[in-house]
Amino acid sequence: MPPPPPRPPNTIIKDLTSLAKYIQSDACKSIVVLTGAGISVNSGIPDFRSAGGMYSTLRADLLTCSAAQRRLMEQDPTYVVSWDIFQRNAFPYLEVRRPFILGTAQQQWKATLSHHFLKLLDTKTNKLTRVYTQNIDGLDHQCFPDNNNDNKIVSVHGTIAQVACEGCGTGMEFDAFCQQVQSNIKDIYDPSLSDDEKKQQTSKPIHCPSCQQPLVKPKTVLFGRSLPEEFFVAVKQDMPQADLLIVAGTSLVVSPANSLVYQVNDDCARVVINQEAVGQELGIEYDYTDGSGGNKRRDYFAKGDCDQVCLELCQALGWEQDLLAIQDSLPEMSRAVLLAAASNKPQMRNNSK
Ligand code: OAD
Repeated sequence: MPPPPPRPPNTIIKDLTSLAKYIQSDACKSIVVLTGAGISVNSGIPDFRSAGGMYSTLRADLLTCSAAQRRLMEQDPTYVVSWDIFQRNAFPYLEVRRPFILGTAQQQWKATLSHHFLKLLDTKTNKLTRVYTQNIDGLDHQCFPDNNNDNKIVSVHGTIAQVACEGCGTGMEFDAFCQQVQSNIKDIYDPSLSDDEKKQQTSKPIHCPSCQQPLVKPKTVLFGRSLPEEFFVAVKQDMPQADLLIVAGTSLVVSPANSLVYQVNDDCARVVINQEAVGQELGIEYDYTDGSGGNKRRDYFAKGDCDQVCLELCQALGWEQDLLAIQDSLPEMSRAVLLAAASNKPQMRNNSK
């Protein structure tokens, strides 16, 4: 038996105006969102894979590790956040993550306009089923502080602000952990030190208070470790009923998080908000014609900065005043996007190809 033909899409989305109409229509009952590092960039946190991102700027030569481990990180920078190296040597992970850990403790970063858009999507429509965030920065939780009650946020790759031993699972208070990171882990980003001075500095292990292994770290998912159980439970529940999947600020290269784009039904509209086209190898189509003159548009690419696109979508939805009301809580770059638009309303985009 040949497989049944794909179900036609619920809607044709050709611009942000038609996306807004779809969101507000009865046909769209359940919205699922998958986010990545791109939605936090305007808070000042670099992403992973862009130029200037964590992987392209990784200085393996400054890290406390063997020559063989250094070579592996130089070949594949994701190795620095893998279980394979962490179980042998926790220093590279802790040294690379030191500023992020300490900055989180100091609440250095604020939720962006894109995060606030997701909160509006929830409160204004009551259709937001879930946000799957690959981000470990906790900025989603600033907008959804009541997450323990409704579990709207699934932190697919864990979070930096909770700490546990990778060996025995015993938790540690974040503040106590930060004190040890501050005192034990060398600062490879200190601008006052030369590279040679940084290389000469040493780090000391942080031991688990329970099993004594030097495996204490933020509860982020290392490559080679499994995702939290709640991810698999939520995906099973959410994907079959999703009418709209919004993918924002992710390269879609890491599985299984990226599997969301093909776990939704054929009639679920998929919108990608990103500065580059991603996910074609997962089945997202940026060419909307089927060769016979027909249109198979179920995917829409809103190309651009996440905050800019979310702002324009808010304008199309009539929510701009809600963003203006929280402008003081936004990071500088998000506020600049908002205020530039308020003083000089841009044309609504129509870049569906
Ligand atoms: P990536 O760095 O791989 O991808 C970020 C995407 O966002 C890229 O496609 C950028 O072009 C885009 N982007 C950056 N800034 C943007 C902006 N202001 N507006 C619009 N788009 C922007 O980050 P993730 O996809 O989140 O996992 O990475 C996925 C996972 O890989 C992470 O969770 C992390 C990493 O290794 C683990 O460590 C397990």
